[in-house]
Amino acid sequence: MSTIAVIPGDGIGPEVITSARAVLDAVAAKHAIDLSYTEFDWSCERYAKEGTMMPDDGIETLRGFDAVFLGAVGWPGVPDHVSLWGLLIPIRRAFRQYVNLRPIKVFKGVSSPLRSATDVDFVVVRENVEGEYSEIGGRMNRGFPDEMAVQESIFTRVGVSRIADYALELARTRRGYVTSATKSNGIVHTLPFWDEVVAERAAQFPDVRVDQEHIDALAAKFVLQPQRFDVVVASNLFGDILSDLAAAVAGSIGIAPSANLDPTKTYPSMFEPVHGSAPDIAGKGVANPVGAVWSAAMMLKHLGHPQAAAEVVAAMEATLAQPETRTADLGGSASTTEVTDALVAQLS
Ligand code: NAI
Ligand code: MG
Repeated sequence: MSTIAVIPGDGIGPEVITSARAVLDAVAAKHAIDLSYTEFDWSCERYAKEGTMMPDDGIETLRGFDAVFLGAVGWPGVPDHVSLWGLLIPIRRAFRQYVNLRPIKVFKGVSSPLRSATDVDFVVVRENVEGEYSEIGGRMNRGFPDEMAVQESIFTRVGVSRIADYALELARTRRGYVTSATKSNGIVHTLPFWDEVVAERAAQFPDVRVDQEHIDALAAKFVLQPQRFDVVVASNLFGDILSDLAAAVAGSIGIAPSANLDPTKTYPSMFEPVHGSAPDIAGKGVANPVGAVWSAAMMLKHLGHPQAAAEVVAAMEATLAQPETRTADLGGSASTTEVTDALVAQLS
């Protein structure tokens, strides 16, 4: 049995989680997979009532689960740094979720803003716990003309090796091609180190082709030739920017999934759609559930059920291909429930 902590969160979070749970139940029944869910009301709504996003022992509570499945958190009136630093970042860091995985695919029936974006199918592997997003640094001379701020980037041999290994191993299961994002011509200490360690790891994978690209040129290629990529590995900051750019290339934020992984499985990994709580459409029953459903498929794969995961993705592809089962963000008029019913029907 796999145990899943479910945090629906705010806004459309609970709507898309309900949908994804229905899809998970259908595919689990079909494959006799035993999933047990425990739901938590951790959210901005809880923050407004009780003053914290999650209880003091929230991290301890989650520690015993196999996975965390999250909808979205955030609500007008609660500053975004509260929802981020009060829930998401503590989970990612406490559980050493050092891989942030974002698959990008332009599906039939989903139109990309780019004319050239057909046959796009790649994955951004973002380093998720070190790099540019460190807490080391500080400010001095506040309020004076010589006020200053310093923030250190932290790149460790362990950290770069394990993210490179993850990307290289993933490429072996795909088209065998890794692109490493760098800027070692401009950032002269950390990124040459990144390049060296990536090259060392790549030498252990002679069957995988590895290119390195400077981040500025890489951003341009994401737009001009998105079909050339298979696995893109990047530091925390570069990966953050590239994955949002890539999601935009794929068409709608409503379909984009993500996983925060501890590949060692020492701690639970967390699966969540890329989108936020969408206050503008919350409660209307029109949210696209595909981002949450695809995230659920990634969770199934991580929990050891690749066949069930593949069937969920196939069901998504089939519903996206039909105009009558597309939601408004994709130009359709289907409700969240109608898309869910179509997905469940495919899987039964
Ligand atoms: P958002 O992703 O919630 O919404 C951006 C736009 O995309 C809106 O017009 C929304 O209606 C649309 N959209 C998003 N998901 C959709 C879906 N599944 N189906 C159809 N349309 C969809 O981003 P926004 O508006 O910047 O943030 C709203 C709140 O969500 C904020 O409080 C923010 O902090 C939070 N947020 C939380 C995230 C998380 O929980 N990981 C990630 C991003 C934002
Ligand atoms: Mg981002």
